[in-house]
Amino acid sequence: MKTLLQINSSLFGDNGQSSQLNQQLVQEWLAKNPEGKVVKRDLTQDLIPHLDSTRVSAFFTPVDKRSKEQQTIVDYSDALINEIQQADAIVIGAPMYNFSIPSQLKSYFDHLARAGVSFKYTETESWIIG
Ligand SMILES: Cc1cc2nc3c(=O)[nH]c(=O)nc-3n(C[C@H](O)[C@H](O)[C@H](O)COP(=O)(O)O)c2cc1C
Repeated sequence: MKTLLQINSSLFGDNGQSSQLNQQLVQEWLAKNPEGKVVKRDLTQDLIPHLDSTRVSAFFTPVDKRSKEQQTIVDYSDALINEIQQADAIVIGAPMYNFSIPSQLKSYFDHLARAGVSFKYTETESWIIG
């Protein structure tokens, strides 16, 4: 069964323009994949913490040196990465707020982008893993 991950980040919930556009794309995908499963993540309802020194330190600490608290932080990020890696299709609603994407969406990306886990650097480029 195929899975679509729907990410919404409008402050106006399902009424937001980006959410409504997102929903249209999801309906089109469902029409082509009637057996498909949609996993919806509303970043304004299920808030993702900002990346701070505690969290980034946890990410950088080797697995055998992590405290229990650090492991909890890493597990949370790992679950978000796993969710996106399991998806066959991803639809992201990204409104523009104050000349940028919503801070909730940036926090989400900050938990997905982990060197050596979800991407790796080479001498000349960076590559997505998985
Ligand atoms: C707090 C806030 C900041 C905004 N900043 C910008 C902006 O910098 N540039 C722009 O073109 N529109 C801006 N807008 C307008 C939104 O992009 C527009 O209302 C859009 O429909 C919001 O998407 P949403 O309905 O999915 O939340 C802003 C709207 C809000 C509420």
